Order: sequence, then structure tokens, then C-alpha cells
Amino acid sequence: MGRLKIRRSTDFDRTAISAIYLNAFGPEQGREIVELVNGLFSDGTAKPLLSLVAETDKQIVGHILFTQARLQPKYQDISVRILAPLAVAKDFQGQAIGRSLVVEGLKRLTEAGVDLVFVLGHPDYYPKFGFRPAGVLGFEAPYPIPTEHANAWMVKELRAGVIGNVQGKIECAGVLDKPKHWQE
Ligand SMILES: CC(C)(COP(=O)(O)OP(=O)(O)OC[C@H]1O[C@@H](n2cnc3c(N)ncnc32)[C@H](O)[C@@H]1OP(=O)(O)O)[C@@H](O)C(=O)NCCC(=O)NCCS
Repeated sequence: MGRLKIRRSTDFDRTAISAIYLNAFGPEQGREIVELVNGLFSDGTAKPLLSLVAETDKQIVGHILFTQARLQPKYQDISVRILAPLAVAKDFQGQAIGRSLVVEGLKRLTEAGVDLVFVLGHPDYYPKFGFRPAGVLGFEAPYPIPTEHANAWMVKELRAGVIGNVQGKIECAGVLDKPKHWQE
């Protein structure tokens, strides 16, 4: 594999990004996620969004998306994002590309002054990057997460001292605000 580059995506990358999700999640679930990603790109309530692609040998092999979210009751000064979705093309998995996308995304959000990042995902994967189960820390997901999957709802603190001082329910972007997107 050539040198890996992580960069912001452009409109020219949309087809390649869709291909990543169809490849990584398969045709059925992949199509749903492509619809979600395209919906979030044109959803005003998802902005500011951070969309990063992983590129090697001029080929896009991974993508990650962070979208705007809010903590209810309204804590005005707490800046929140949701990480969804993330995927790496099958032939390129297990080579730390997912890690590079998560780490670079969190670095850019920290520099942008974001306080908390939430994800509903693999409970063994995201703790590698400092994510912790969010429910027990007082953060409710937009829709109830089944108890057996409670650990899949996680939070990463980017500014020290936020967790423990605020809690509440997360309000996500309009397109993501459907129960089907919150079933692990
Ligand atoms: C999950 C995914 C994004 C990981 O990206 P990747 O580039 O393959 O993974 P990385 O090389 O960054 O893996 C880093 C580490 O996480 C581990 N890991 C990878 N996928 C994992 C998973 N699903 N659950 C737990 N650990 C996982 C790897 O073993 C590796 O461990 P190590 O650091 O101890 O060596 C990728 O496998 C993928 O796209 N999967 C299909 C779609 C999907 O499940 N997306 C995420 C939904 S939440």
C-alpha cells in the first residue's frame, strides 16, 4: 500500500464514498448507509460536518463523517458531534486506516473547539480511541438503545472537565433522527 493521505472530501469524491459503504457493508445495508450519507451532506442541521477520506495511490479506501448534534436541555456552550458512519474498503481493512480516520477526525474536532463526540458502534473498537460507554455517564441517545447493546453507545471527551459537569439527551441531525438508525 502506498503512502496514506487523510483529507477533507470534496463533491468529486461522492461516488467513491458510496462505493466504500457498498463494499464494506454489502449491497443491502450499504445502500441504506449511502442514502444516509447523501442525506446528511444536504441536511442543514448536520452542519458544520467533517467528512474525511483516506486515500492511497490516488484511490479512496476509507471514509468517516462527523455531524452536528446538541445536548438537551440546551447547554449552549457545549459543542457536540456524532461520528456516523465510518468504513474502510474490505481489501484495505486491518491496516490501521480506520484508526487513522478516527484519530485525524478527533484531532481536527479538538482544534475546532468541539467538546464531546458520540458514536453508536463496535464496543470493542472505539474504546481504542478513548470512547467510553455514554449511558452510565448521563448521556441519553436520540432513541433508546437496547440494554444488551448499551456499551455500543459511547462518548469521547475532547475538552477536559466536561463529562461529570453536564448530562442530558443527544439531539442529532434531522436525517439521522429516525429510529432505524439507532438499532445496533
Ligand atoms: C470497523 C472498521 C472501520 C475498522 O477499520 P480498519 O481499518 O479495518 O481497522 P484498523 O486497522 O484501524 O483496526 C485497528 C484495530 O481495531 C481492531 N478492529 C478492527 N475492526 C474491529 C471491530 N469491528 N471490532 C473490534 N475491533 C476491531 C483491529 O483488530 C485493530 O486492533 P489493534 O489496534 O489491536 O491491532 C472496518 O473494519 C470496517 O469498515 N468494517 C465494516 C464496516 C463497519 O463495521 N464500520 C464501523 C461501524 S461502527
